[in-house]
Amino acid sequence: MTRCRICDGQVRKFFDFGRQPLSDDFRAEEDVAGAFYFQLAVGVCASCSMVQLLEEVPRERMFNYDYPYHSSGSQRMREHFAQTARDLLAAELTGPDPFCVEIGSNDGVMLGVVKDAGVRHLGVEPSGGVAELARKDGVRVRTDFFEESTAAQIAAEEGHADVIYAANTICHIPYLDSVFRGVDALLKPGGVFVFEDPYLGDIVERHTFDQIYDEHFYLFTATSVREVARRFGFDLVDVRRLPVHGGEVRYTIARAGARTPSPAVDELIAEEAERRLHDLETLEGLGTGIDRICEDLVKLLRDLRDQGARVAGYGATAKSATVLNYAGIGPELLPCVYDTTPAKIGRLMPGSHIPIRSAAEFGRPYPDYAVLFAWNHTDEILARETGFTEQGGRWIVYVPSVRVL
Ligand code: SAM
Ligand code: TMP
Ligand code: ZN
Repeated sequence: MTRCRICDGQVRKFFDFGRQPLSDDFRAEEDVAGAFYFQLAVGVCASCSMVQLLEEVPRERMFNYDYPYHSSGSQRMREHFAQTARDLLAAELTGPDPFCVEIGSNDGVMLGVVKDAGVRHLGVEPSGGVAELARKDGVRVRTDFFEESTAAQIAAEEGHADVIYAANTICHIPYLDSVFRGVDALLKPGGVFVFEDPYLGDIVERHTFDQIYDEHFYLFTATSVREVARRFGFDLVDVRRLPVHGGEVRYTIARAGARTPSPAVDELIAEEAERRLHDLETLEGLGTGIDRICEDLVKLLRDLRDQGARVAGYGATAKSATVLNYAGIGPELLPCVYDTTPAKIGRLMPGSHIPIRSAAEFGRPYPDYAVLFAWNHTDEILARETGFTEQGGRWIVYVPSVRVL
């Protein structure tokens, strides 16, 4: 039996993807033998409702100098984070000498805007390569994991923060007890801890099961986030649904009693109860959808191969590791994947060992079909790759179901 990482309750497993590689472990051909595998299974806590992975991958294996994901790689996400920074500057960073800390600041896409506004800031980012990119843009970064000890040191050296912000990072951190104690040590009495992550409600609704991989240790809901916040003397005071990455929620957390919760919190929690979002039956239904999608995708790719069609993948996303490895799709069905990220080009997809080529070569010549693994960037990619469809190319999507566009 697995114990809940938050409350020590019983975690009930609802899906098991089997042995899986690390989703961002893009290796050169000569290095594939040393790849790390773990059991990717996901469950829900019967006591506190937190949806979580059953096995924890050691953090240094995932987040190190070579971490390949660059937040600035998408125009839409650059705009999203610029707007986020402007919103925080206007609403929370208005007092004398305000201080903004970001957990998981990556290449500085959000803090760069805070810096340009002349506001004191600090990123906490364990992955040295992306931290260096941020520093090149003049963003202050501490290369470290955010946890209680780091937070206490920052408070001692730089004072307390008005805002602690994180995007697509808090769900990556199993040790939320240490994170919340750290927030407690670093946040001003009236400050806010704001974070946004993929929303379980959207994952269940849209069958975006490929959001489940090593780095996404938790799949949050308003219910489970309020529960964990309360355990550490905080309260969930606002929630806002965001359209990015296939559907996220931004949670605003303040010290208990410091702010009046917005009605949106109770509304979303009531909606989650009505949808029975944390029930084993609901979550097992997601599992049925996963198996159907993977079977349909493999069948389509086999049919296309048998017809002699040329098929490729587009977007070497972390998410795609779950799809490719669970469905058992390798180079024989999908000979290559195109991507814009320098650190991924020339490497192999984790586990499936499909070669990654530069997106600049996508049209030399275009394939007949392209599986859109970066479905969260659909608008941006379809707008850029108009030449593909003009030449008769067809996009294949697999969420919420397998379809040829
Ligand atoms: N915030 C960026 C965004 O939304 O695009 C980056 C998200 S990226 C998926 C997750 C980031 O969290 C990585 O850059 C990783 O190195 C960082 N990270 C992981 N564990 C962390 C921790 N304990 N403290 C701070 N950052 C962490
Ligand atoms: P993400 O789904 O984790 O944001 O990763 C998106 C991946 O897709 C990343 O490796 C960059 C790649 N990508 C492209 O190849 N072309 C594009 O236009 C965009 C937006 C992303
Ligand atoms: Zn629990």
